Amino acid sequence: MIILDGKKTSQEIRNEIAEEVKTLVKKGGKTPHLAAVLVGNNGASVTYVNAKVKDCEEVGFKSTLVKLSETISEKELLEEVDKLNKDEDVDGFIVQLPLPKHIDEQKVIMAIDPAKDVDGFHPQNLGRMALNLPTYLPATPMGIMDLLDRYNIETGGKHCVVVGRSHIVGLPASILMGRNHYPGNATVTLTHSRTTNLKELLKDADIIIAALGKPDFITGDMVKDGVVVIDVGTTRVVDKTKKSGYKLKGDVEFEGVSKKASYITPVPGGVGPMTRVSLLKNTLMAARSKM
Ligand code: GUN
Repeated sequence: MIILDGKKTSQEIRNEIAEEVKTLVKKGGKTPHLAAVLVGNNGASVTYVNAKVKDCEEVGFKSTLVKLSETISEKELLEEVDKLNKDEDVDGFIVQLPLPKHIDEQKVIMAIDPAKDVDGFHPQNLGRMALNLPTYLPATPMGIMDLLDRYNIETGGKHCVVVGRSHIVGLPASILMGRNHYPGNATVTLTHSRTTNLKELLKDADIIIAALGKPDFITGDMVKDGVVVIDVGTTRVVDKTKKSGYKLKGDVEFEGVSKKASYITPVPGGVGPMTRVSLLKNTLMAARSKM
């Protein structure tokens, strides 16, 4: 069994990005600039956004954090989005999700200029991804593809079972795994809460991408020998022994499943750091497109 070390792999990519930034700036290009919009103070969102800003510093990007009140109106938020769309120094930006209930997320995503949508959530960019055209890929699915690629894991002709159909992870991951080039060319089954024969499908899977957000949902008895397991789950569960008061749990019961897997991602230290570095890759691409 080989651990798919997202921490190490993402650090390699981070180093490559830092080198590219230096070269880009030396050639007269601009310093890549990512902006992040944070509405309210949801604990996980604050952590994620702060991490994104720190990542920017590490690779030599400029970053801007736009902090907005939980009570901001949809109209005001759309105005902020418009400002970032028009700000020529900002190469790309993200609006951290989830947004407060009174704001229509889809409306906000649609308002982002697709050329600056480094999350790859705009329908135009998701459509381009599905059609295999150059675009910003959503960060988590891109991180998964990079991890498979860097470990040279065979995906062609394999049965890949994706658990969870979120617009951010499951749905785009299923599209990428089915594209007609590496990493892809898999036979993909996209499963969700209405799937009736999940156990049967998992048992047949060569590759499992678990993104349903239920800690320890997939256990050793549910998978076959040699399976490749990508665990996207990061649920916070109470742990009084930790300074933060919680620990992160994946969707896969690591102890049992790792005994049968050929490759498996840990939580934390698997997909999470790969997701973070993917946003940097997209921001670099956005800055490059201006050269
Ligand atoms: N919330 C959870 N993951 C993400 C992400 O990748 N991008 C944004 N904008 N919000 C998120």
